[in-house]
Amino acid sequence: MNTEQLVKTFIEYFEERDHHRIVGSTLLPPPGDPVLFTTSGMHPLTPYLEGRPHPLGRRLVNVQRCLRTTDLEEVGDATHLTVFEMLGTWSLGDYDGPLSLDWGYGLLTEGLGIDPGLLHATVHAGDEQTGPDTDSLHLWQDRGVPVELTVDDNWWSNGPVGPCGPDSEIFLWSGEGPPRSTPTRDDRWVEVWNHVTMSHRRLDDGSLVPLPRRNVDTGLGVERLASLLQGKPSVFECDVFDPWRRLVPPLWSLDETSLRVVCDHLRSAVVVRGDGVRPANTGRGYVLRRLVRRVLTVLWRDDPSRGLEDLPEEPVRHTLDHFRQDIRSGGVLRVLREEEHRFRRLLERGRQVLARPRFRGRLTEDDCHYLHDTHGLPRELITSLRYE
Ligand code: SER
Repeated sequence: MNTEQLVKTFIEYFEERDHHRIVGSTLLPPPGDPVLFTTSGMHPLTPYLEGRPHPLGRRLVNVQRCLRTTDLEEVGDATHLTVFEMLGTWSLGDYDGPLSLDWGYGLLTEGLGIDPGLLHATVHAGDEQTGPDTDSLHLWQDRGVPVELTVDDNWWSNGPVGPCGPDSEIFLWSGEGPPRSTPTRDDRWVEVWNHVTMSHRRLDDGSLVPLPRRNVDTGLGVERLASLLQGKPSVFECDVFDPWRRLVPPLWSLDETSLRVVCDHLRSAVVVRGDGVRPANTGRGYVLRRLVRRVLTVLWRDDPSRGLEDLPEEPVRHTLDHFRQDIRSGGVLRVLREEEHRFRRLLERGRQVLARPRFRGRLTEDDCHYLHDTHGLPRELITSLRYE
């Protein structure tokens, strides 16, 4: 089952259960939102989860592209991506968590044909502020799915303040042979679907208040589930990476982790540019700049003559088509290549400046500000140039 079929099956399953499909937004949250990028499917729905009526009703479903810079250091393992898609469902004060879990179980086992013996669930054990999530626990026990109870891992929030609540996560076994152990003890259990009962709001002072009505917010990682359904050992081998996996290795010889980082960051940079962001020294533009620079740092580690001139348009076009981004692949490549040239010039200048006697010893805060403001050298670049 390819990603497109997975998305279709999911959406139709919930449409049959009276969910209204809403159009996913871009990676850019609306003006005034304090976060740089949409980090989860629920993010654009925050006002509705906080109580505003949604014009399309109380049961919603969609697929949403997301970007998480918090996972940047984890990219390279089997499951983390910078840009990924999340299938989501929402009950805005309508049905409750256990029904959502029951439908989830039905879709995974009957709809997608997953062996129920490969599933594991986790449920909130309760803490001093909220009781245990016994309804979800009973649902899983009735279905014969093993459950692990945790406290922190089963409490979901989108930040220090705002809507939050207990969640029940569904894991799929990715190991060879029969499943063993539990999700917190064996990372071959891959989390694929999170069902959050948004029951509370956390206030600035850290206290929790109940929301006027309980919502359910679920998010399923598309590439994670697709790769498991396709029998692939990592998200980098599922179909959305096909042209990257085919065309990048012949260009540059890279170990597996570096190949994953290069493919992830290039693909993410394409999507970010496709949503209208240009490289810059602050905000979203800086995230794009960092993605390109991290790719180049990996490529140049072995061979400084490598560069994005070599990259063909096909994977760029494939990614833009996948995300239905109406922008020319040649233009996106040009922006990435301009960024490469800027980075090369910056590194050359940086090496010259840092070779001055003044910067040979320990750098003060004033030195760092001067290097940044006058020579455009960010702190992490100064550090890496000094340790070359
Ligand atoms: N908000 C939850 C998550 O991102 C479920 O959608 O995991």
